Amino acid sequence: MEKKNIDWSNIGFGYIPTEKRYVSNFKDGAWDDGVLTEDATVQISECAGVLQYAQTVFEGLKAYTTENGQIVIFRPDLNAERLAQSAKRLEMPVFPEDRFIDAVVKVVEANEAYVPPYGSGATLYIRPYMFGSSSVIGVKPAQEYQFRVFATPVGPYFKGGAKPITIKVSDYDRAAPHGTGGIKAGLNYAMSLHAIVQAHEEGFDENMYLDAATRTKVEETGGANFLFVTKDNKVVTPKSDSILPSITRRSLVHVAKEYLGLEVEEREIYFDEVKDFAECGLCGTAAVISPVGRINDHGNVITFPSGMDEMGPVTKKLYETLTGIQMGRIEAPEGWIKVIK
Ligand code: PLP
Ligand code: COI
Repeated sequence: MEKKNIDWSNIGFGYIPTEKRYVSNFKDGAWDDGVLTEDATVQISECAGVLQYAQTVFEGLKAYTTENGQIVIFRPDLNAERLAQSAKRLEMPVFPEDRFIDAVVKVVEANEAYVPPYGSGATLYIRPYMFGSSSVIGVKPAQEYQFRVFATPVGPYFKGGAKPITIKVSDYDRAAPHGTGGIKAGLNYAMSLHAIVQAHEEGFDENMYLDAATRTKVEETGGANFLFVTKDNKVVTPKSDSILPSITRRSLVHVAKEYLGLEVEEREIYFDEVKDFAECGLCGTAAVISPVGRINDHGNVITFPSGMDEMGPVTKKLYETLTGIQMGRIEAPEGWIKVIK
């Protein structure tokens, strides 16, 4: 298979259309068989549920080329499960979890020429999503839905890759208590757009959102969960019903305990404690683990001892072990890697 002529090492996190995508429609209470298509456009009613009332949920996962040249995906069963949870919360039909994995595999196979080579620093980002496609004008769920999967080669989410970033404590909330913060719905990201544009204008890379009820506890950023490391090398990560249950974070908790022998605490984290941590990172499929060097809370600046030049030592070990598992350099726990070819 000849790879596309793309400058893999210099692409950012953007949309590069690939050849084939998967589409399945839900109508009269059932999903159709689904097909791969070259048509990258979507045609729906002007009054579709997604357009009027934001009835849409999505997932994100990656395909990797391993050291020995295989193409693999990482824990797709957890993405399938989370999409089902997200769909239920927005009164959408569930796309069967086995068919989700099958659709992802088909899209990766069909776009093999776009899977970045081993060692290039790029990966194939896979975006499964579904939306209400039939008309609704009263506020209620649509009757018809479309499930799609496309793939696009991506580089690092933050410019500079592994360089520490600077974030700010946001004045806006991302998710309400008892709201939709725990699912992957487009509406949560729409909520964050104004805040991220402002943060960028002010020279910050991302926002730290605090809990909406008390504004004392650390939640997450617009697109990743937090991991902190204490001065005695304990990994600490926020527990909250209004943050997305990151698959990367759940995997890193296992890696920290089982591969690195570190103690891990998943608990509420007060913003007041953050100044005492030694390292901070953002974790997610897109972010992988992006080190945070500095947090600006309305002019009060916390600079972590790990500094602005490189990842802290524990963050680095976590990063190397996780990416080692994904790229086939380190043996993966049972069931984490699905080989496509
Ligand atoms: N939190 C938010 C808000 C996200 O958008 C993402 C990205 O998917 C994550 C966390 C990380 O989740 P995961 O590790 O499953 O990609
Ligand atoms: C992901 O990591 O897959 C996400 O969906 C995050 C998004 C901000 C790109």
